[in-house]
Amino acid sequence: MSFKDVSSKGKVKSSAGDHAQRGILPAVLGASRPQRPFMYRSLRIRLFVSCLAVCCVASARAQPPQSLREAADRSHILIGTAVRPAQLSEPAYAATLAREFNMAEPEDALKWEVLRPDPQSFDFQQADQVVDFAIRHNMKVRGHTLVWHKQIPRWLADGSYTPPQLSKLLEAHIKTVVGRYRGKIFAWDVANEAFDEGKNAGKLRSTLWYDQPGIGFAGQGYVYLAQCFRWAREADPQALLFYNEAEAEEINPKSDAIYAMARAFKRDGVPIDGIGFQMHVNNLHANIASISDNIARFTALGLQVHITEMDVALSVDANGNATPEDLNRQAEIYRQIAAACVSHPGCTAIQTWGFTDKYSWIGSHSKHTQGAALPFDRAYHPKPAYEALRVAIAPSR
Ligand code: XIL
Repeated sequence: MSFKDVSSKGKVKSSAGDHAQRGILPAVLGASRPQRPFMYRSLRIRLFVSCLAVCCVASARAQPPQSLREAADRSHILIGTAVRPAQLSEPAYAATLAREFNMAEPEDALKWEVLRPDPQSFDFQQADQVVDFAIRHNMKVRGHTLVWHKQIPRWLADGSYTPPQLSKLLEAHIKTVVGRYRGKIFAWDVANEAFDEGKNAGKLRSTLWYDQPGIGFAGQGYVYLAQCFRWAREADPQALLFYNEAEAEEINPKSDAIYAMARAFKRDGVPIDGIGFQMHVNNLHANIASISDNIARFTALGLQVHITEMDVALSVDANGNATPEDLNRQAEIYRQIAAACVSHPGCTAIQTWGFTDKYSWIGSHSKHTQGAALPFDRAYHPKPAYEALRVAIAPSR
């Protein structure tokens, strides 16, 4: 990761080295003359500069990190958030985003619904706003998502396409979108939520892409997903390719099925690099031991794990406020999950689904009975969850 290259430690070290070299040169050139006092002086200067360098590094290290971003940079992990392009013009939104995060992911702007006004065209305007902002602020960008059964445009859902037509459409979509952001989007959620839930947990979901009518692999399990990963790899050989899923954070029938798929992909050479666990936490419940074991088994396959959409929904009153007790319980869940990720070297990113309670999907999708799910409140003040996250990601590894 590039973060390793730009640490202040590296910079201070090399400038101290420059000073030392500059000190040695005159001493060597003037070796035939009695130069003892100068050499002592030069030695003292070198010692002084070296001490200064060491002290600077030590005191920078001793300061607690001033932001999530600083904590994550020091730990060489990524801390990200979902981003809404319409809010980038709001100064507090933009400032908090750039200060606190080293990774951004368009919340909706890369979904079919936004990108594809009709079968012939692509509208990259909103996605470009997020990508450009991230590049300007030296942040990485995750892409979300290429193959999903939700947020697809009407013309596609109602289009009565045949499998060969759908296959052509999907291939062109993946190659165009991934190709456009080659070198800019470092990781993609190639597929999202392809596995079913409830009594069908562990089975593939019936979708437009799989078997309604599908892209030509109906009834053949995850072969259609393998095809999508291959198309994405062709479009950008450098991008990391992820499978992203909800309710598979713990060890359960759904994560077992994803594990079987991931193992088969690795065995068969399907280009998969990681698994995204969404981590939308409800009812203040998270089985941390099970989450940690789950991360362990996926990273043991040689895959990276990203926590991709974390939020912790709380019950809120008519004004959108949660109780202080719940805010503390929420903080503890953020802390434990971030700590679980950081404890596995293969868990390389923690991302929240938005960062301010002012803009979060939780309220709008729960008719405003749930909310307050993110680390900053509606006025961009850090909540207990913020401090918990910062502490959890701070230790270096
Ligand atoms: C949500 C967005 O946050 C909302 O703005 C949108 O109205 C619906 O989708 N899992 C996912 C995300 O993978 O794409 C979803 O995002 C939240 C659940």
